[in-house]
Order: sequence, then structure tokens, then C-alpha cells
Amino acid sequence: MQEIKFYKGENIPLELHKVRIVQKLHLVPIERRLEALQEGGYNTFRLNTKDVFLDMLTDSGTNAMSDNQMAAMMQADDAYAGSQSFYRLLKAVQDVLDKKYYLPVHQGRAAENIISYAYVKKGSIIPMNYHFTTAMAHITQYGGKIAELLYNEAYVIDSSHPFKGNMNLEKLEEIIQLHGPENIPFIRMEASTNLIGGQPFSVQNLRDVRAIADKYKIRLVLDASLIGENAYLVKQREEEFKDASLGEIIKTMTGLADLVYFSARKLSSSRGGGICTNSDEIYHELEALIPLFEGFLTYGGMSVREMEAMAVGLYETLDETIICQSPNFIKYLVQALDEKGIPVIKPAGVLGVHLDAMQICAHIPQKEYPAGSLAAALFLISGIRGMERGTISNQRDEYGNETYADMELLRLAIPRRVFTLSQIKYVEDRVNWLYDNRELIGGLRFVYEPPVLRFFMGGLEPVNDWPQKLMTKFKEDFGDSL
Ligand code: F0G
Repeated sequence: MQEIKFYKGENIPLELHKVRIVQKLHLVPIERRLEALQEGGYNTFRLNTKDVFLDMLTDSGTNAMSDNQMAAMMQADDAYAGSQSFYRLLKAVQDVLDKKYYLPVHQGRAAENIISYAYVKKGSIIPMNYHFTTAMAHITQYGGKIAELLYNEAYVIDSSHPFKGNMNLEKLEEIIQLHGPENIPFIRMEASTNLIGGQPFSVQNLRDVRAIADKYKIRLVLDASLIGENAYLVKQREEEFKDASLGEIIKTMTGLADLVYFSARKLSSSRGGGICTNSDEIYHELEALIPLFEGFLTYGGMSVREMEAMAVGLYETLDETIICQSPNFIKYLVQALDEKGIPVIKPAGVLGVHLDAMQICAHIPQKEYPAGSLAAALFLISGIRGMERGTISNQRDEYGNETYADMELLRLAIPRRVFTLSQIKYVEDRVNWLYDNRELIGGLRFVYEPPVLRFFMGGLEPVNDWPQKLMTKFKEDFGDSL
């Protein structure tokens, strides 16, 4: 376990890397931040990073790359077919994820598209621990429906449950019996369940899901985008694995799934993605779709340079000193906010810190998007860009009605090895100020709503002049400070 104790018992997550390439950041004045919000339709996805101080939108494609990844990019082999870079990547996938076949795709959602295209039909039901936005969009695009089967404790914000991402096994059996296994092309398990706050499942739960999948002869698909972090928390929280290496835990998990897919933007601190399997049948069912949607089978829409970075990044996923950094910073920030009574998802998970907008903005009705409002307000007063993970990120139902999210979260992503501890302390300070002034935050409404994945490019506006009032209060309290 990578824990370094301080002499006086201070709780400090020590960085186990040094910074060798840096990028200058800009903290622009609050007046400019307000303009940027107006220009970006109060949607943090639409901000330009020249206006952003700490970019906590996501860890996707933003984890710091290592010196070895950068070096590997220089020896990439440009070839349309049969690139040596592909074979190095294939070997890394086989070594780390323990699957013999690897189908390259340009990012995680491309894998979701291919799997859904191949297996989802009108009337299909896909049971899963919880949806991810893009997975759900592809499944519904091909006429399927999802069934989310978490235990109730997964939705409890202030919890100490170690495995909130566990699949509810009783409900899984029920759903299979209700719809019939013939209508269930696969069961989907997502490592470090993103939208409930980066919460892991246990290996035992995955084994139990596997047993049910076997009983009904249904494929088990594992979304391994955040498998490194899930493995890290298994090591910390699941007795059986306390002495296992991350590599052993990862192989145990991938070994239980028929088909594993991932976003390499997360998994291997690179870009790209992949689908892998040991099944000849699955491989042949999917193989022809790669050149159709992605690119030739030895690059799948990725640049060879990214493939080299991905190969090295996959091996680095086995290094606990690399994988522990983000969860340890998250734990630090969760603890600091929790001590001040600010509602955050507990226990601390992976990917980021998740603020509970339902409580913080209890005065904002869900139809005015409390999490989106909190995201806009935090950016305004700090230049910190988080991501709304609530009703705006949900899609309307088939009749066009709003479907209110189970949770209204503001996610503050902490990508691997990007931020310093003083930056994390700045986040703590500004969230604290905003919490004390939360009554000044108001709601939002859509002025432009795209039909699919509306959260990406949708435009909103405040329901009244609350942003101006919040800015006035900020200036009263902080004077000339940025
Ligand atoms: N699965 C999970 C669990 C994810 O978190 C993501 C992306 C995807 C699939 C899709 O992968 O972006 O490479 O197409 N999550 C990002 C996020 C976007 O910000 O959480 P992609």
C-alpha cells in the first residue's frame, strides 16, 4: 500500500512524481468569467480553456502522460496496415487485460457503438449496474432499453459502503426472468461506476454476476475504462485481495467478462480505446465493424503515436504509485469538505470529488437544474470548471419528457498527476465560500437543446440575475483578488 506517513501525523497525499513539463494557467478576472459563461451558454463544456483556471471537467484525455509515454510516441511506426505500433499495443492489451483478441477503436463510445450495433435490437434490455451517458445513448439509438440494478445504498450520499457500484443480484435475476434471457444480449458492468460518484464494485460481486450470466447463457460485458482505480479500491477494501497486485486484480476482473471494452482516454492516460475478448465467436461478430466505423484493424481510428502512448500507459496502470495519486487527492479533498459540513459523495471514490447539488442547492427545483447551476456558479467565483452530472446529463424519455436524475452532482475531476496540493486547497477554499453563499445561486433553463447528448453543446441561461448578485458578493468578500 502506497501510504507515506508524516512525522506529526498530518494527512498529506504526497506526490510520487516530479513535474518536468508545465503549462501556464490563466486565472482571469470574475467579470471575464461571467462573460465567458454567457458566451458558453452557462454550460461548462462550452468554455474555452483560456478562461479556465483549474480544468476539472474530466479526466478523459487529460491525465498527465509520463516521460516514457512521450518517448514511446517518438518511435511510432506509421503504416496503414500491420504497424509495429499496433503489435506493441496488442501485446500490452494481452499482458495487462489478459485477452487474446484486441479490436482498436478511436475512443470508448466507439466501442459502445460497435457492441450495441452488433447485439442490441428493438426490444433488447441491457441490465447494468448503472448507465454511462454514451453507453445509454448507443443502446437506445439501436432500440434497446437499459435496466439499472444498483442496491439502494448506491444512492445514499453520506455512506461508508465500500462497494456502491455492486450489481443488485436479486434484481438481476428478476429482470432476466421478467424479460427472458433471449431479450438480453448482454449484461454490462462498469468499473468504478462513473455517474454515482466513481464508486467501485467488488470482485465477489462480479463473480456473482458472472454466475448468473452463466446460468442464463448471457454475455457479460465489462466497461474497463476505470478498472485501474476499481482494482486499487478492491485492494484497499476487499479482504481477499489486500496482498494482491493491481495486475492480479485487474486480470481477475477481466477474466470474468466475455467482452471487455474501454476508453483509453481514462484507462491508459492516452487517447483511443478498444474492445477485447478471448472468444473467437465474439471476435468474428465484431471484427468487420471496425473497418466500417473506425479504420483498419491495426489502427481503428487512432494515430500510431497514441497507440504507442497507450501501450506504455496500459503497463503503467499496474503501478500503484501512479494509480493511487488521483484517489488519494480525492480522499484528501472529500475529507476536507466533509469536515466543513459540505455534502459530498462518500466514501471518496475515484475520478473526482462529487458535490451533492441536491442538498447544496436545495432551494433550486430539479427542473431548473441544480447541478448545472452549481457548476456555473463555481466557475464564476473561481475559474474552476467542473461537470454537471445530473438532469442536464440525462436524456428525455421517448415521449420527450424530462427524466429527473437520481442524483444531482457537480463532479470535480482530479486527473492523474495534474494538479498540486495547493491547487486542491484553492478548490477547497472556493467551494467553502460558495457553500456559505449558496442561497445566492439560482436556476437555469435551456435556450438551445440538442436532441442527443444535450449536455455537451446545449445552451442555457439563468432564470434571473443571480450571477450578477453572486459576483457582487464575491467582490465584497475578496476585493481585488482574482
Ligand atoms: N465508459 C465510461 C465509464 C466512461 O467514463 C466514458 C467516458 C466512456 C465509457 C466513453 O469513453 O469518452 O472515450 O468515448 N467518460 C468521460 C467522462 C467522457 O468525462 O467521464 P469516451
